[in-house]
Amino acid sequence: MPEQPVAAASLSASEPARRLVDDTSNGSLPIYLDHLATTPLDLRVLEAMVPFFTTHFGNPSSAHPYGWQAKEATEAARNAVAGLLGASAREIVFTSGATEANNLAIRGLAARHPDGGHIITSATEHPAVLDVCETLSRSGTEVTYLSVDAHGQIDPDELQRQLRDDTFLVSLMAANNEIGTIQPLERIGLVLADHPALWHCDAAQAVGKIPLDVRALGIDLLSMSAHKVYGPKGQGALYVRRRRPAIRLQPLQEGGGQERGIRSGTLNVPGIVGLGRACELAAAELESEMRRLGQLREQLVGGLSQKLNLTINGHAQQRLPGCVSVCFAGADGTDLMLRLQHEVALSAGAACASGHTGPSHVLSAIGLSDAQATSTLRFGLGRSTTQEQIDTVIEKVIAACVHDTGLAG
Ligand SMILES: Cc1ncc(COP(=O)(O)O)c(C=O)c1O
Repeated sequence: MPEQPVAAASLSASEPARRLVDDTSNGSLPIYLDHLATTPLDLRVLEAMVPFFTTHFGNPSSAHPYGWQAKEATEAARNAVAGLLGASAREIVFTSGATEANNLAIRGLAARHPDGGHIITSATEHPAVLDVCETLSRSGTEVTYLSVDAHGQIDPDELQRQLRDDTFLVSLMAANNEIGTIQPLERIGLVLADHPALWHCDAAQAVGKIPLDVRALGIDLLSMSAHKVYGPKGQGALYVRRRRPAIRLQPLQEGGGQERGIRSGTLNVPGIVGLGRACELAAAELESEMRRLGQLREQLVGGLSQKLNLTINGHAQQRLPGCVSVCFAGADGTDLMLRLQHEVALSAGAACASGHTGPSHVLSAIGLSDAQATSTLRFGLGRSTTQEQIDTVIEKVIAACVHDTGLAG
């Protein structure tokens, strides 16, 4: 236990949120540029969570003041999550993260279609969607994988062409975790507006980083994760539309009937409170943070390209502000990452798929050769990133590239 576990209490919301990492590291850790893999817990989120580990420890299902206190906090968090998404609170189901939310959405819906039916997804989804679809395809569900263009976007006209009478689900993500490309969400919504298939959107990388409104876009099911938005690990949520008509999912687990029977199990109250607070902060800071990250991104790309031969993967405009996927011609991404690892923490590919060998399925899908894919590094900028850090990173990356390849131009 640190000496002052609630030191965060002294941090007002107006103080720079970028103190997050500096305050918690011992100063010898590298600059953190891997915010797409996970984000540090915002100290304001920690502050909100702490009482629910200690004094406010009740179970929201209990019929006494301890339970009521916990219930009130989880319902306030549900409102905050719903508020960020443009949903209503009763449409939010708490899960352990986006992986579980994706599983619950896709398997939970597929179980209502025992005849098999048809699902459409895309080649660049996260494994928590692709692997579920792959498993379902082995038990009779047909799956169509839409390809993406060189920027990582699907073609909505192709989606239209692939829809069938028995298509019950379209699972298309909001923003990609490797290259940051945002899908043409409005056009996808328009295509699906005229078809009974439901749209599940894995928005783990998009929630809190770009504006998202489930009603305006026509999203029926949406997965999100607290640890991608400065909340705690092990907490997420699934939005399940409950209007015109309500969507019914088959639960993945049975038990005490929590979350209206869709997701049994005692609620992780501190995690849920943290998710709620993280959503409030993201909503309040979304626009300024998008602008700030956009500027840092320009600084990084500008600085690197002055000296190095590089190409930027992903869409030039429709992209997450904090994601910079860079292909360093002729360099080996893993070697570069290893060379840099004590100075800059970043990712050679998708951290979620680490352990997986071979070129990334996303980089292959946008047409990169194996050599180009293995020359790629992903920089994930976030709330803790500063201009000074970017200056240092530019210097370190250029030095590492020159050392490895003599690539300076
Ligand atoms: C797009 C996407 N979906 C799903 C996940 C899995 O989320 P979680 O770690 O909450 O299970 C990730 C994690 O990187 C992701 O980037």
